[in-house]
Amino acid sequence: MSWFITFEGPEGAGKTTQCALLAARLREAGYSLLVTREPGGTPLGETIREWLLAGEALRPETEALLFTAARAEHVWDRIRPALERGTIVLCDRYVDSTLAYQGAGRGLDEGWLRELHRIATGDLWPDLTILLDVPVEVGLARRRAAAATITRLDQEELAFHRRVRAWYHAAAQRDPQRWRVVDATLAPEVVADVVWATVTEVMKRGRRSP
Ligand code: TYD
Repeated sequence: MSWFITFEGPEGAGKTTQCALLAARLREAGYSLLVTREPGGTPLGETIREWLLAGEALRPETEALLFTAARAEHVWDRIRPALERGTIVLCDRYVDSTLAYQGAGRGLDEGWLRELHRIATGDLWPDLTILLDVPVEVGLARRRAAAATITRLDQEELAFHRRVRAWYHAAAQRDPQRWRVVDATLAPEVVADVVWATVTEVMKRGRRSP
């Protein structure tokens, strides 16, 4: 059975590491997998990624449209076909990042962003979203310790990152069926064990009702 699982969280939460660790465990358990990320996942998506993360400042609307354009290609070319084949899809960030960063962070209307998502992807939402949660200061300090990975968005003011994290908390509270919150301040191996327990528990229980 196919599952669409996304990782979300503020900067420096360790999503990329946890995505790789979960992928290794799922592969070991015999599942077929697509491991991917946003922005990215297709040649066009990777090109848009460079613009978004390193390029000049953009209007919030332009930013949202570019993230969503990359997502449209990603969903129709990679994610939907994989789900139709019965593959598990693990994606490092997805639409909730747009709602958190361009919505809560930049102040764009969430209703407009949701409508854009509906048009761009045929309204494809994950079955399970893992929120790797760290306080903003902790995440940004981790990011700065690995300076090579600092992006244009990392450099936003603290208040921006606080709005992003608060949006994630509110979203997880509103839809506890889809979201699971994991404390990402713990050691990576401990976080990986919690993520594994969470994913196996949810998959055993079965898909949430549509
Ligand atoms: P990345 O280096 O992948 O950071 P992280 O490891 O935190 O995921 O950069 C992705 C950046 O893009 C991150 O700051 C969040 C931002 N982003 C948005 O603002 N909107 C989106 O829709 C997506 C997918 C990402």
